[in-house]
Amino acid sequence: MVWIFLLLVLLLVILAILFVFSVSASHDTFQKMNIDSPPASRLLGHFGAALKKGIFTTQLEIYNLYKDKKVYGTYDGCHPVLNIKDPDMIKEIMVKSFNSFVNRRSFFDLDPPFKEMLVSLKDDQWKHVRKIMSRTFTSGQIKRMSKHMERKSQQLVDLLHRKQESNDDDDIELKNIISCFTLDVIASVGFGVEISSMENPDNPFAVHAKQSINLSPLLLSLAFFAPWSLTLLQKAGVSTIPKATREYFTKIIDAAIENRKEEGQAGKVNDFLDLLINSEEESGQTEKYYLTRSEIHGQALVFILAGYDTISTVLSFTLFLLTVHPEYCQIVQKEMDEKIGNESPNYDNIQGLTYMDMCLNETMRLYPPAFFIDRVCAEDTTVHGIQIPKNMVVAFPVYALHRDPEFWTEPDKFQPERFSAENKDSHHPYAYLPFGNGPRNCVGMRLALMELKIALSYILKDFTPVTCEKTVYPIKLKKLQLIAEDGLWVKLSARK
Ligand SMILES: *[C@@H]1O[C@H](CO)[C@@H](O)[C@H](O)[C@H]1NC(C)=O
Repeated sequence: MVWIFLLLVLLLVILAILFVFSVSASHDTFQKMNIDSPPASRLLGHFGAALKKGIFTTQLEIYNLYKDKKVYGTYDGCHPVLNIKDPDMIKEIMVKSFNSFVNRRSFFDLDPPFKEMLVSLKDDQWKHVRKIMSRTFTSGQIKRMSKHMERKSQQLVDLLHRKQESNDDDDIELKNIISCFTLDVIASVGFGVEISSMENPDNPFAVHAKQSINLSPLLLSLAFFAPWSLTLLQKAGVSTIPKATREYFTKIIDAAIENRKEEGQAGKVNDFLDLLINSEEESGQTEKYYLTRSEIHGQALVFILAGYDTISTVLSFTLFLLTVHPEYCQIVQKEMDEKIGNESPNYDNIQGLTYMDMCLNETMRLYPPAFFIDRVCAEDTTVHGIQIPKNMVVAFPVYALHRDPEFWTEPDKFQPERFSAENKDSHHPYAYLPFGNGPRNCVGMRLALMELKIALSYILKDFTPVTCEKTVYPIKLKKLQLIAEDGLWVKLSARK
């Protein structure tokens, strides 16, 4: 009996060793390519450092090791990643050689409808859906969608006034309250659903939306270290995003579509769903500008994944940075008083708010929600003399590029003047990538900027944010998320 036990133990030990070796087997990739790469842990690659010191510090530290280099290699667990730090080379990959770098890396196959989101689509299907999505984001459409944002911003401001009057503790954690706001906007603009997460944070839309952006850390780690195990799990019916969440969203989207068709309201509500309905494939239609129902589900979901947490991050960080730099806040408010006056902020009158634009851009330089962007090389391609093999993942370390002293003087300081008309050209355009660039840049950029400006205008028109006892600055980021560890605490002081 004992020898069977011993044999089993021996077998397990051998398997464990084989596993570690299989993970690190690819760790000589960059040495073979003659590209610099810092020492990697056998099991975790450079993800080990990220777990210990945080992804932001790690990205910056590794980037700074290679001051005079155009590229360097890292390993995400077993996956080699070619990091590009030269802006001219980034431009080449994102724009000129785009056809060899169309797709993003996918760790695992998502289940429909998440599989058909614009962000995860590949090649021809991506081109097809992207073309339709671009048509839905014209100025006219964005202007119509702005009405929903104005209404929601007014509700936010009303709530803030009520909070002030109710004499409670009036310290406010910005990220928390702003997340509720951006979720309400997404529900309204993207799905035609009216919710008030600000007053009722446990509504089902909010609960499921949070579910879908919180991929379990366990699954995420598996994706890094043993991608094959996820395929197995999926075959066994385990899903990366809970089934109930997937069903919830497909159901409300279908219900909303049928409802509108019945009431003859389709195309009249002016939200994102309307635009998608207009492009739905009629049976027998062969026109290629149409989307299938499942593609519609996917694009509606991108709205949540790409437009909820990102916008709340930028909006809350901007407000916070203006709180701790009141001199810039004053300039923003002065500009608003001059250009908007007593009107309510709207699509037209916010266009002239240049200084606000500069502050938003400076916030996105310091805290870019997409702090790491990647592409997969489709065929052997030589870029600026560097041979990139087929299937290699190339990445743009956005967070570190945005803080590279070679492109930005005093990179850690909040200085909106960097983006003034005079100074704008002093940074390389590809050293600033808050929305990516090239044909696969963020399709919702203009919509996002509009939402940010409308919401910011509504808030700063009625309130001046000031520091309070709980304010902690400089901001310390959490290890794995673009979130302030100590929160973004401020007090709002009513204007006039
Ligand atoms: C801010 O950034 C956006 C997007 O990158 C750009 O379109 C805009 O011109 C910038 N504004 C200023 C004032 O630099």
